[in-house]
Amino acid sequence: GLEIITEKDKMRKWSRSMRAKGKTIGLVPTMGYLHEGHISLIKEAQKHSDVIVVSIYVNPGQFSPSEDLSTYPSDFQGDLDKLKALPVNVVFHPYNLYDYGNSDIESKNNDPKSNDGSGGGGNDVVSCVEDSKLGHETWVRVERLEKGMCGKSRPVFFRGVATIVTKLFNIVEPDVAIFGKKDYQQWRIICRMVRDLDFAVTIIGSEIVREADGLAMSSRIMSPFTRRAEQGLFSAMLYHHALSINRSLSRAKLTAQNGQISCRDLRDLVTQAILEAGGKIDYAEVCPVLSGQILLLRLNPTMDLALTSSEKPSNVETMSKNQKK
Ligand code: PAJ
Repeated sequence: GLEIITEKDKMRKWSRSMRAKGKTIGLVPTMGYLHEGHISLIKEAQKHSDVIVVSIYVNPGQFSPSEDLSTYPSDFQGDLDKLKALPVNVVFHPYNLYDYGNSDIESKNNDPKSNDGSGGGGNDVVSCVEDSKLGHETWVRVERLEKGMCGKSRPVFFRGVATIVTKLFNIVEPDVAIFGKKDYQQWRIICRMVRDLDFAVTIIGSEIVREADGLAMSSRIMSPFTRRAEQGLFSAMLYHHALSINRSLSRAKLTAQNGQISCRDLRDLVTQAILEAGGKIDYAEVCPVLSGQILLLRLNPTMDLALTSSEKPSNVETMSKNQKK
């Protein structure tokens, strides 16, 4: 049966009892609103461990106050229904991992903003945790890798991810943890952190799972087919733009296979196709990896959020008509 654990002490106890029985523990960290991409990580975990813990926790530490923490989609009951059909032993679903209650650390007057006048570690690096003044002030940073690509437009993001994953590792004490290659930079940052800090856990990278139309599955952008009623955060407009990512990547792959092309030309080919489809690009970079080169990119969703939160349905229509030409 599937056990739901919300307390960290209980979670650690469970893991230690399993380890005492000689079982290896696999952890799949998620923020919930589960889809086939998450499910594939669970199947991967099955290959590497005896028992499986899935954590569901929307981590305020990786959201800046201007990001979508409060509207991040969730459906805990729906998630449980999916997990019940899978070889998952525990769902770890804590309420707040930054609230330490009556811990033995002096917690009065520890608001960093009032202490050192630095604005809590630099004005551009403030997460919803500092914003809520919980007294948490310890962060794990992978200093070089956290800066580029997604880190440029989201300065608190990877610091928040590395910190929450550290906390989850300390609470669950897994032997193996699985991360998706859809979030490639995130996966590499966790690998680096585990190596640099000697964590006793093996990190596995798992392949991207895509929608039938080629878009990588994502809790934020769900296809019109998968999307649950009224919970897709991104409009049909952005979905249309997001589709151009996979289309242009596939075309670029063909071009690369058919002859010599420079990394820069390849990147330009992809970005041009996305811009022509009306999408905005946050970044697109070709990066060296162990197996060769990889092109990483992220759409800029700002425009879409502006559209969905304002009065412009007619504008959306005009723009999508233009795109068809
Ligand atoms: P979340 O976006 O819920 O993703 C949880 C895990 O599922 C991540 O490792 C992510 O890379 C993987 N994943 C998501 N979509 C995927 C897809 N289409 N194919 C393959 N894997 C996919 O990433 C996070 O949560 C958080 O940052 C977290 C690591 C839980 C820390 O808070």
